[in-house]
Amino acid sequence: MEELLEKLQVYLTKKKKPYIENVAKDLGIELYEVFGLVQMLKQKGYLFDVIGDQIVKIKPIKENDVYQIPNNMEHLRLLLLSDTHLASKYDRLDILRYLYAKAEDTHTDYVLHSGDLTEGVSSRPQQQYELKENSYTGQRDYVVEKYPESSVPTYLISGNHDLWWIQRCGADICKDIASKREDIHYLGSDCEDLKIGKLKVRMRHGSGGSAYAKSYRLQKYLDSIPAEELPHILQTGHIHQAFYMKQGKTHCFQTSCLQDLTPYERSQGFNNDKSVWWVDIDMDNKGNPVQIKQELETFGDKLIRKR
Ligand SMILES: [Fe+2]
Repeated sequence: MEELLEKLQVYLTKKKKPYIENVAKDLGIELYEVFGLVQMLKQKGYLFDVIGDQIVKIKPIKENDVYQIPNNMEHLRLLLLSDTHLASKYDRLDILRYLYAKAEDTHTDYVLHSGDLTEGVSSRPQQQYELKENSYTGQRDYVVEKYPESSVPTYLISGNHDLWWIQRCGADICKDIASKREDIHYLGSDCEDLKIGKLKVRMRHGSGGSAYAKSYRLQKYLDSIPAEELPHILQTGHIHQAFYMKQGKTHCFQTSCLQDLTPYERSQGFNNDKSVWWVDIDMDNKGNPVQIKQELETFGDKLIRKR
């Protein structure tokens, strides 16, 4: 059964709104089995449903400003990443491809991306020399075509670089990209809460400042969250440096970037580290998270060859 579920997951990343008849034919199963498998995927938190005679991507349900992702598993594995700055000449698609392949191999449940999916276009004229694409459609299509396709769904918020497009042309590039990809779910801009089963996660991009006194910034931010809203996991982006701390019940993951240092960053004396967090969460028999373990994986400047 698990094998069939995995087959369907992969199938759904490649075919947009497939007819259930075709799914049954392609997977060599009965129609009623397709319905059953979609139900099982939904219970595992995958956002697909049968509408009419097609399987379609559905929006996550938002209740009291919190996205609800159903989950009844005893163990969850997450990949936390951020600041991919795609369409920059310094982006690292090779690392992203490696990570999504590893996420599939290691049965990762979700990838959480906390913003700056695209490089955007800034008001700084010299930035045009650092871009592979300098138009809205150029950057959008670059991500739609090149972001690794995966059976592991990605939940995404936008960051300040993505939001430059709203100032420039009134378009929400992350929303647009997610509408063209079955495996990417856009939650909103800058800060969103989600509950995966009973695990509370806050995804935040952040703004301003540098990596200076990073723990102080995170502590100040945590102090501003009302006690009843405190998440189990706080994931933040923006400063392009990795950091972990635990305050009370909250595990804070500052995610760095997946982009080489740009000439501008070098001239400003900024520092980048390229890394991601792999996070394993164990639940008790009531679904409450009881243990959260993390591992930081770092990357250098050398290109990663395809696995
Ligand atoms: Fe960034």
